[in-house]
Amino acid sequence: MKTAHMAIAIGLALTGWAALAKPAPTPAAPKPADVVAARQAAMAMGAVTFNMLKNASGAGTPAKNLGFGANALAKWSAAMPAMFAPSTRNVPSRAKPEVWADMSGFALKSAAFADATKALVAAAKNDDKEGFADALASTGAACKGCHDSYQVPPPAAKPG
Ligand code: HEC
Repeated sequence: MKTAHMAIAIGLALTGWAALAKPAPTPAAPKPADVVAARQAAMAMGAVTFNMLKNASGAGTPAKNLGFGANALAKWSAAMPAMFAPSTRNVPSRAKPEVWADMSGFALKSAAFADATKALVAAAKNDDKEGFADALASTGAACKGCHDSYQVPPPAAKPG
């Protein structure tokens, strides 16, 4: 009798464990808010990568050693437009409504960013120090060029 009770208890415990161990079902698709969170994270990491490349290049790191970061920015520039899908329009974010009201203008800014990062990748491949510095400048201009029209400016830093 005692053994039977124990067997039942162990059985129940194992069932409970099995239920807990079962992986959560994978959602069929990311929700719009997930896409916004991912694009904001990628923008932030893009800024980290850009600054790293700028500092390294300024400090004399050979362009051929900066290919990984250049590629990362190029991949992000290719993925970025889809992260501003119309389904994300009503999620609170710092994207201006103009992103969707003027999609062709936004596409042009995205293309300028993609072109600048391609030049960055090419300069890294060719170990072209000056070309890399030029491409960094046009990449930075592409970030700013889009933000000026399509991003709500970040809150001003508090004085003092
Ligand atoms: C084609 C337009 C476009 C380009 C190009 C672009 N951005 Fe953005 N960026 C935006 C928009 C729009 C937002 C606001 C997104 C949101 O809040 O969901 C943003 C947000 C950001 C943010 C804030 C992220 C956060 O934490 O919420 C940073 C940082 C940023 N961008 C950096 C960059 C840098 C650096 C580059 C260039 C390497 C760049 N962006 C290129 C449009 C652009």
